[in-house]
Amino acid sequence: MSEKINRQWLLAARPEGMLNDGNFKQTETPIPEPGEGEFLAKTIYVGVEPAMRGQMLPQSAYAQVMQIGDVIRAGGVSQIIKSNHPDFAVGDMIQCSPGFQEYMVSDGKMVSKLPDGLNAEAVLSVFGGTGFTAYYGMVETGEVKEGDTVLISGAAGAVGNIAGQIAKIKGASKVVGLAGTDEKCKWLIDEIGFDAAINYKDDDYADQIRAAFPDGMNVFFDNVGGEILDVALNNLALNARVVICGGISRYNKDHKVPGPENYFNLVYKRARMEGFIIVDNLHRAQEFSDAMTPWLEDGSLKYQVDIIEGFENLPNGLMRLFTGANKGKQLIKVNDPI
Ligand SMILES: NC(=O)c1ccc[n+]([C@@H]2O[C@H](COP(=O)([O-])OP(=O)(O)OC[C@H]3O[C@@H](n4cnc5c(N)ncnc54)[C@H](OP(=O)(O)O)[C@@H]3O)[C@@H](O)[C@H]2O)c1
Repeated sequence: MSEKINRQWLLAARPEGMLNDGNFKQTETPIPEPGEGEFLAKTIYVGVEPAMRGQMLPQSAYAQVMQIGDVIRAGGVSQIIKSNHPDFAVGDMIQCSPGFQEYMVSDGKMVSKLPDGLNAEAVLSVFGGTGFTAYYGMVETGEVKEGDTVLISGAAGAVGNIAGQIAKIKGASKVVGLAGTDEKCKWLIDEIGFDAAINYKDDDYADQIRAAFPDGMNVFFDNVGGEILDVALNNLALNARVVICGGISRYNKDHKVPGPENYFNLVYKRARMEGFIIVDNLHRAQEFSDAMTPWLEDGSLKYQVDIIEGFENLPNGLMRLFTGANKGKQLIKVNDPI
């Protein structure tokens, strides 16, 4: 590849059903030149998340939609290779939104240098939007406290595994994860420290949930929605908190899906169900990282990244989220740093 070329992945067609290769188109443009007060940065890592599919649709409930022909929008870490900006030097590693492309020019807005002592993997997982989502959802919305019993869906994913670790740190007496393979369930128990894990593809998974929470659960942290949410609502303890973080089971459906049949248990159990969007709270990033730093330092919180390599694999990295191929935060390494 010529060094003067910027390879990009564009939105070729809006998704209908599962994302597929036809939604993406590769193109090449000249590498842009930074003007006065700007810098050129080379993409090192791109991080993907399920909400990106929603931004490819013609309308989005809260995020700016991508237009056909736009570079696929995504967060990541880049390295500055040319700078006309007084505050950024060649070699600086920055957290930014490179999108699915190899180079970007920026004026430094919405960009931050990696904090001292933190590598790109940590910044894109536990100390990025992913970790803050887990923290905010579990601690603030879920109000997890000592002795609570907790169920987490999508537990082996980026947010889910961190939410489970935070629940344990906060003194939850039992943390159970739901995941889509036996291997992920074993990983959650052996490596991440969950007390138990259930494969939601087992025919009797609802019975397994009931058996795991004979007195009902105090917190349900939901990344999945659909039938799993309904089963959880049937197994709440008194005053339970149901945290609606995500609903990935509905993201590839092009029709409206019915609401949970068991919602009235919120009344019987005097329970609360509440959703949140982390971008409303990004101004609190420092507060979240202050809370989480000691846990990372003493080893009680570990970050989990699932790294695949290569610019060509950017669409594949996003599609892996919807087939359950990833464990922990899905990153795509596009280039080595200089
Ligand atoms: N509220 C917010 O501010 C906020 C912020 C970030 C993320 N989120 C949401 O939080 C959820 C988790 O995000 P993430 O970045 O951590 O993604 P993720 O969990 O790392 O990746 C997706 C995982 O979801 C599971 N999955 C995929 N399709 C599924 C289906 N049809 N039914 C059940 N499970 C399915 C797969 O695991 P299995 O093998 O276990 O199926 C897959 O590995 C998403 O719904 C996301 O939109 C919300």
